Amino acid sequence: MIGGRTRVVGIIGDPIEHSLSPRMHNAAFEYLKLDYVYVPFRVSGGMLGKAVEGVKALSLRGVNVTIPHKVSVIPLLDWVEETALDIGAVNTIVVENGRLKGYNTDGVGCLEALREEEVDVSGGKVVILGAGGAARAIAYSLAPLASELVILNRTGSKAVALAEELKEKGWNLRGGELRRGVLEDELKDAVLLVNATSVGMYPNVDESPVPREVLKSNLTVFDVVYNPIETRLLRDAKSAGAKTIDGVGMLVNQGAVAFRLWTGVNPPKEVMRKAVVDGLTGRGEK
Ligand code: ATR
Repeated sequence: MIGGRTRVVGIIGDPIEHSLSPRMHNAAFEYLKLDYVYVPFRVSGGMLGKAVEGVKALSLRGVNVTIPHKVSVIPLLDWVEETALDIGAVNTIVVENGRLKGYNTDGVGCLEALREEEVDVSGGKVVILGAGGAARAIAYSLAPLASELVILNRTGSKAVALAEELKEKGWNLRGGELRRGVLEDELKDAVLLVNATSVGMYPNVDESPVPREVLKSNLTVFDVVYNPIETRLLRDAKSAGAKTIDGVGMLVNQGAVAFRLWTGVNPPKEVMRKAVVDGLTGRGEK
């Protein structure tokens, strides 16, 4: 029950009503009997400054930050970790002694999701599709591990620019246009393919960013899209004999990292995953 000592966390964004984070975190708080509650806050563009002040003024423990505020929130914080500055986006705020600290848990969440499935990319070639926010976080987390990282995007110039930016860190990268011929070539010796575009996301569930024919069994395919849980890309990859990882893994793991930052406690990730899956499949509606 919510009481005088309950710590409040939440998520700020707009729109917010379809977020799965409240059910995911509240399920974990309930399971561990932690006196915390996670609340969705709809914050429109012009209200971000006031909302962030409010996070501090109301002594919230912290918040997640989502569309459209992940980038514009950065200058409003007292401190931001280096990874979040590199990625250029903050998705988690922790209030520490009245100071607002910003983190990005997407990259670590991606690595953790891969580790859970025992996928080791160290020394292997990775191909990432997309050059938006999700692709940036994933590229920054995988580039130091992979022997070679290739970023392909519908708008090729964005992939080239992202690859150039990461190359300055001393990592081995290339960027290019997302085309069938290029994909076919690049996937020949790749160990991991990550879809960080929105292609295949509900309602466009019959779309895939990759033709079925270029997928093969010695590849792991990781789709960041989690609605639907099994995307067309993952279905095609499975039928080609490839190992597949769905986007719920990354959603849960980025949440788990935030949960640890707020509470100092390891969350029950299976409970969080079940809450997300139930939310996506329409079960457990209150
Ligand atoms: P996110 O934060 O989820 O990464 P985003 O920054 O809007 O969202 O990026 C969306 C990504 O999906 C981009 O790489 C986008 O490609 P463009 O840069 O060319 O726009 C990609 N994307 C979206 N719709 C696509 C489509 N129909 N085909 C190919 N790529 C698509």
